[in-house]
Amino acid sequence: MPELMILAEGGGSGGNVPVVILLAALATFAIAYVIVGPGRQRRGPKRHGDIPLAMRPYHSDEELETTGMERAMSWGVALAVFASLFVPLYWLIEPERINNRVDDFYEQDVQAGRALFAEACASCHGTNLEGGSAPHPSPDVDAPWPAPALDNIVARYQDSEIVDDVHEFIMLTLIHGRAGTPMNAFGVASGGLYSDQQLEAITAYILSVQTGQLPEVEAFVGRSGDDLFDQHCARCHGPQAEGYVGPQLINVFERYGWDPEDEASLEQARAAILDTLRVGRNVPGEAPMPSYEGVITEEAMVAIVDYLESFQQTGGPRAGQIGGEPTASDDEETSS
Ligand code: HEC
Ligand code: HEC
Repeated sequence: MPELMILAEGGGSGGNVPVVILLAALATFAIAYVIVGPGRQRRGPKRHGDIPLAMRPYHSDEELETTGMERAMSWGVALAVFASLFVPLYWLIEPERINNRVDDFYEQDVQAGRALFAEACASCHGTNLEGGSAPHPSPDVDAPWPAPALDNIVARYQDSEIVDDVHEFIMLTLIHGRAGTPMNAFGVASGGLYSDQQLEAITAYILSVQTGQLPEVEAFVGRSGDDLFDQHCARCHGPQAEGYVGPQLINVFERYGWDPEDEASLEQARAAILDTLRVGRNVPGEAPMPSYEGVITEEAMVAIVDYLESFQQTGGPRAGQIGGEPTASDDEETSS
C-alpha cells in the first residue's frame, strides 16, 4: 500500500492528521473484527487433528450455509466500514497535506536562497536587496555601475513590454549573467558555481521579499542632456557614445532612417529613439537596454535625444569621434 508509506512519513504540521485517521480506521476495523470477525468460531478442540490434510471432510452444507456465509459477510462488513471511513477522510485531508508539504519545500528554498544571496549577491545588490553598485569593468571608467535594487523587481517589470515573466527573467539573468557588465553568470552551464536548483532558491528568496513599491521618478530639474547621458547611458554606450555593451550611438539617427535632406525623417528618427528609451529591449544573456519609463521624466528623455542629435553623423559607424576632427570622407558624406 504505497499510500501508507506516504502517510507514515508525512512531516510538517498537517502530517499527523492522516496518521490519526488511519489509526482510527484500523481501530474500528479491529473492533468490527472482534465482534463479528471470523476468529470467533475457531475455539474448542482441534477438529481433525489426526486425519491427513487431503482426507479431511469439508464443511457440511449446513455449516456452509450458516457459519461460513456469516463469516464471509462479516468480513465484507468489516472491510466496508474500513473503506467507508478511510477513503473519504483521506480524500478530504490529502490536498491540505500536499499543500503543507509544498509550503515546507518552498520555505526551505527561501531559507537556502537567503543564505546564498548573502554569500554571492549582497556585496553588489545590498544586504536587504536595496541596490548598490560595482566598479565598471573597464579600467578607463571611474563611475561605478549601479546594481539595481531587487526588492522591487516585480513591480519594476510589471508593465514591461520586454519582459513577460519576471521569474524566468531573473533565472535567465542569473544563469547567463550580462556579458560586459559587472553582473556575472552564476549558472554552471555558463561557467558559474551554482546549480539551477540553487538559483531557483535565490529567485524564490528574491520573490519572497518584494515590497511592491516602485522607485520614484528621478527629478529632472533642468539638467543637461549631456549630464543625463553620462549618468544613465555612458556605462553601456561609452562616454563618447562610441559603444560598449550597447551599440555606438554616433550615427544612430541614420540607422533609424534619418536623412539630412529630409526634415520629416528627423522627427521620425527622434520618435523611434524616444520609443526605444521608453520601452527598452531585452537581449537574453546580455545587458538589456533598460526601459526608462518611470525612471526618468519624459523631459529628461527628450533632453537626452536632443543631446544625441547634437553629434549625429551619417555614413556608417564613427567610433570615438565626438568633438574630434572630422575626416575628409566624413565631410563629403555629411555635406552631400
Ligand atoms: C559584482 C557585482 C554583482 C554581483 C556579485 C551580483 N550582481 Fe546582479 N547585477 C549587477 C549589476 C551591475 C547589474 C546591472 C547590469 C545592467 O546594467 O544590466 C545586475 C543585474 C542583476 C539583475 C537584473 C536586475 C534588473 O532590474 O534587470 C538581477 C536579477 C541580478 N543582478 C541578480 C543577482 C543575484 C541573484 C546575484 C547573486 C547570485 C547577483 N545579481 C550578483 C551586479 C552584481
Ligand atoms: C545596461 C546597458 C545599457 C544602458 C544603461 C543603456 N543602454 Fe541603450 N542599449 C543597450 C543595448 C545592449 C542595446 C542594443 C539592444 C539590441 O541589441 O537590440 C541598446 C540600444 C540602444 C538604442 C538603439 C540602438 C540601435 O541601433 O537600435 C538606443 C537609441 C539606445 N540604446 C540609447 C540609450 C540611451 C539614450 C541610454 C541612456 C538613457 C541607454 N541607451 C542606456 C544597453 C544599454
